[in-house]
Amino acid sequence: MSHTTQTQRRSEPVVALDADAVRAAYRRWASFYDSSFGGVSAWARRRAVAETNRLPGSRVLEMGVGTGLALPRYRPEKRIIGIDLSAEMLARARARVAHEQLTNVSALLEMDAEATSFSAASFDIAVAMFVASVVPSPRRLLAEMRRVVRPGGHILFVNHFAAESGPRWWVERALAPASRKLGWHPDFALEALLRDEDRGRATLRPMPPFGLFTLVQLPN
Ligand SMILES: C[S@@+](CC[C@H](N)C(=O)[O-])C[C@H]1O[C@@H](n2cnc3c(N)ncnc32)[C@H](O)[C@@H]1O
Repeated sequence: MSHTTQTQRRSEPVVALDADAVRAAYRRWASFYDSSFGGVSAWARRRAVAETNRLPGSRVLEMGVGTGLALPRYRPEKRIIGIDLSAEMLARARARVAHEQLTNVSALLEMDAEATSFSAASFDIAVAMFVASVVPSPRRLLAEMRRVVRPGGHILFVNHFAAESGPRWWVERALAPASRKLGWHPDFALEALLRDEDRGRATLRPMPPFGLFTLVQLPN
């Protein structure tokens, strides 16, 4: 068995998550997601939506929309379709849309973000917030985002990426075996999402708190 050290970084997480593990994890998370992770992720989510709002085009696909924490922040002229694997998370998003009367949310659908039923080039923007480290295959997620976004459109991610060294590296490695229970990969590396050629075209911006999250923007 090979061991990974700080100098031998691996891009694949140590534990794989499949769709059933994701559904099971977010069935558990749904009732306290907003009151737990909702807080620490709020600044970065707000910045990702602000960037989405600035981009041209109105057709927005939110991959892994979860409980819909971002939905009230889109400008009224953006038309949002949100998809998610978890029925329980989506139920909360639907309740939010009804409660806040968000008329620009066109649909919230139970659908796999790695293989959607949308036609090619159906959207101007696809955004995935805190989803890339959850999906079974981040590269398939990116490929699907590329397919459904029109040429010249935009792809955005905001996510936690594993540290390359230091105390956070050790904490993330220690948490990695619990990935299936947590419902995300603490040891998720940027390389698991972006190939070298994507990395060269991507804009990466550290996000609060303390650069824990990164906003990744890719032209399509
Ligand atoms: C950490 S939550 C993020 C939710 C939301 N984007 C936010 O900003 O709070 C991850 C979400 O991704 C969803 N998810 C994971 N894999 C997915 C997939 N393959 N297709 C659709 N949704 C997925 C989960 O069900 C969960 O709701």
